[in-house]
Amino acid sequence: MEKLTMEKLTNLCKQYGFIFQGSEIYDGLANTWDYGPLGARLKNNIKDAWRKRFIQENDNSFELDAAILMHPRVWEASGHVGGFSDPLLDCKECKTRHRADNLINDFAGDSRGDAMSHEEMIKYINENQVPCPKCGKTNFTDIREFNLMFQTYRGVTNDNKSVIYLRPENAQGEYVDFLNVQRTMRAKVPFGIGQIGKAFRNEITPGNFTFRTIEFEQMEHQLFCKPGADLKIYEHYKEYAKKFFMDLGLPENKLRFHDHEKLVFYASAACDIEYEFPFGYGEINGTHDRTDYDLSQHQKYSGKSMEYLDPELNEKYIPYVVESTVGCDRAVLAVLCEAYKEETLEDGSTREIMQFIPSLAPYKAAVLPLVKKFHKEKAEEIYRKLSKYFMTTYDETGNIGKRYRRQDVIGTPFCITIDDNTINDNTVTIRNRDTMEQITLNLDEVVNYIENKIVF
Ligand code: GAP
Repeated sequence: MEKLTMEKLTNLCKQYGFIFQGSEIYDGLANTWDYGPLGARLKNNIKDAWRKRFIQENDNSFELDAAILMHPRVWEASGHVGGFSDPLLDCKECKTRHRADNLINDFAGDSRGDAMSHEEMIKYINENQVPCPKCGKTNFTDIREFNLMFQTYRGVTNDNKSVIYLRPENAQGEYVDFLNVQRTMRAKVPFGIGQIGKAFRNEITPGNFTFRTIEFEQMEHQLFCKPGADLKIYEHYKEYAKKFFMDLGLPENKLRFHDHEKLVFYASAACDIEYEFPFGYGEINGTHDRTDYDLSQHQKYSGKSMEYLDPELNEKYIPYVVESTVGCDRAVLAVLCEAYKEETLEDGSTREIMQFIPSLAPYKAAVLPLVKKFHKEKAEEIYRKLSKYFMTTYDETGNIGKRYRRQDVIGTPFCITIDDNTINDNTVTIRNRDTMEQITLNLDEVVNYIENKIVF
């Protein structure tokens, strides 16, 4: 089997309606992507899976859907206005722009650039003659810090007073609403607030398909706990997130932890989970011990108390926070990379399959009338019945073998063939995508059979 490349995956995603280039008819807007009908389903299924693990099955966890636009002071308090930046330099020869830490990491094959100061980075680049990836020369400008926040203006005047930001992370919504959720849900520490939503970053070096984009979705969960209880919870969430990815179908041997040496301004401990993409390992999750940093900052900047009165200790304190954040688009990308398989069949032909776990598959079932002329009516009736329970598709065009292949490549786990037996004795044939084995079931058993297989 040929190794999957990002180019091949990008083309496949476009061809079958998973992901399209954003603004394509205008030649695209670089690094923006639109999820097509199948991609949108896949992404929603991943969000549902996250919701199930991080909210529904996670004791004392509550979901939030906070506004993307927040008071500008939020981003001063969080430190993003002053400190959310990347070290940027330009190649003087070919005028391309790069992140200095990435240049060094790619050159060295490790993450040493993460822990370096500006001076150390410049020294390393010059001493090792780190080349520009585009033109191969080593002739760079000095490093400047480049703030990643998208800034816009509210109202009609474009002045400093009306500056407003698109949120660069979801987390601040959960911190600002911490007491609202605690009071209304009568929650006791430890408890969690999670949310799924868009975030925006003016990334200098986006790329690798949907891996690094300027608009993306995060699935973030903040666990509020007693000071001192944080480290144990931090270790728990590292493993909890890893198990989540394995349940999504990512194999353990392609996942690794990466503990941070250089910590972002808000964290006292941080660890990424990285997945082995076709282009190398890349971060898909972060677990961060954010201490009481964010809540204390909001207390200071808003002048409102963020303290929690612990009824057991009869004591007030600002809780510590352990964050577990998953990049939704990166989880989708990892699942797509992992699901794609090319198989050589006995007759020498090849088939392409997206081996999603059934709960993630865009369509759970496809209803296929064997002969359109005779079986269409019954097939449509069954299609309408199944659609009430789960996403079902219907296909009557081409020979049955070709229709199976199309369902294989879009990842539909079950194909239901409607033939004379369906009309005569109410039975259907169900073909399994992965084994290609077929079983016969009574029509009344089909919903149960499939529903039992799509539980996450
Ligand atoms: N609230 C913490 C936070 O935002 P982060 O590590 O900067 O932490 C969290 O981002 C996750 O969001 C990352 O693990 C990654 O999966 C995803 N992510 C970050 N930047 C991204 C980008 N430019 N494009 C796509 N996903 C991104």
